[in-house]
Amino acid sequence: MGLSNSLENAPAGTRALSSRLSVLCPLDHDFLATLARDVMAGLGDQPKKLPPKYFYDDLGSQLFDRICDTPEYYQTRTEQALLERIAGGLVEEIAPTDVIELGSGAARKTRAVLDAVHRSGRPCRYVPFDVSEGMLRRSARQLLDEYEWLTVSGIVGDYDRHLSLLPPGNRRLLLFLGGTIGNSEPEEAVRFLSRVRANMGPCDRLLLGTDLVKDHAVLNAAYNDRAGVTASFNKNVLSVINGELDGHFDLARFEHVAFFEPECSQIEMHLRSTIDQTVCVDRLEMHVDFAAGETMRTEISRKFSRASVASMLAASGLELCHWFVPDNDYFALSLSKPV
Ligand code: SAH
Ligand code: TRP
Repeated sequence: MGLSNSLENAPAGTRALSSRLSVLCPLDHDFLATLARDVMAGLGDQPKKLPPKYFYDDLGSQLFDRICDTPEYYQTRTEQALLERIAGGLVEEIAPTDVIELGSGAARKTRAVLDAVHRSGRPCRYVPFDVSEGMLRRSARQLLDEYEWLTVSGIVGDYDRHLSLLPPGNRRLLLFLGGTIGNSEPEEAVRFLSRVRANMGPCDRLLLGTDLVKDHAVLNAAYNDRAGVTASFNKNVLSVINGELDGHFDLARFEHVAFFEPECSQIEMHLRSTIDQTVCVDRLEMHVDFAAGETMRTEISRKFSRASVASMLAASGLELCHWFVPDNDYFALSLSKPV
């Protein structure tokens, strides 16, 4: 079947692309069923909302990658510089056998950790885990080109459902970067981190990236970049629904809205209907009415403090061991361990 000998006993869905790369793909038609269920529930809700994981089809992942380079989006640059500063110390302390990255995306920042692993001289495997197959395969191939000593075992899956597929171990460094935890509601984030915790052995460690509360003008600008990349990213969720569920959203009839909401300490992202309209989503047999000016929430991005990160971790069975911040206190990386 074209599988290499070394992977003859690999689980179904594993394909040997080369001896240094394997990719497990548990995502299948149930992804479409989950999308259908989530979209139906969200569009039927009042106020309407859409779940964020569907932003990241191939185009969405590329748009997100471009957001990271906009001058207004400070997070990626800040987290990158911070990781470069602390990676050596972390790798010395943990001596990881595996670097597992949840929501790995383009895996740009991972290089700081892999460089430190290489300097340590110990063998280590990289395990990217992402719902976006194209992005995962592209970034894995690039890393294998750049790091000839590296092996990659990717998982194309939904970390809300497929965490049990992580390779076992007990000196694993789990990365969850980019402030992605802030895209979940507080209870959902604790449920997710508790599942991650349940997968961790006593010597495993979690490095979590969280964006911090700061000047509201800086926050608002980061989600309203002048080039309009964030607006395109936000609207792309409508293209995903059009493509997967035979929806008839006209992207020109919705506009991007994003603002900081201090009470919940979160950026809220919405799509606002510019006119009265009815949109059909054929596969759901749904007709959805929008009033002119009506908004539909597509994403939140929570902004944290040291106290709110520590209590979220504690509620998930994790203990904060190191708190790393840059001079401007824009972003934090926290290292935690199972209690
Ligand atoms: N870690 C990268 C990318 C962050 S964007 C960075 O810091 O820049 C969030 C990433 O999580 C995307 O690549 C998206 O495809 C992935 N993602 C979102 N929801 C997911 C889910 N439920 N399961 C797996 N990956 C998911
Ligand atoms: N984790 C990123 C964040 O909260 C995701 C993100 C950045 C995002 N820009 C966005 C999500 C625009 C939706 C729309 O910052």
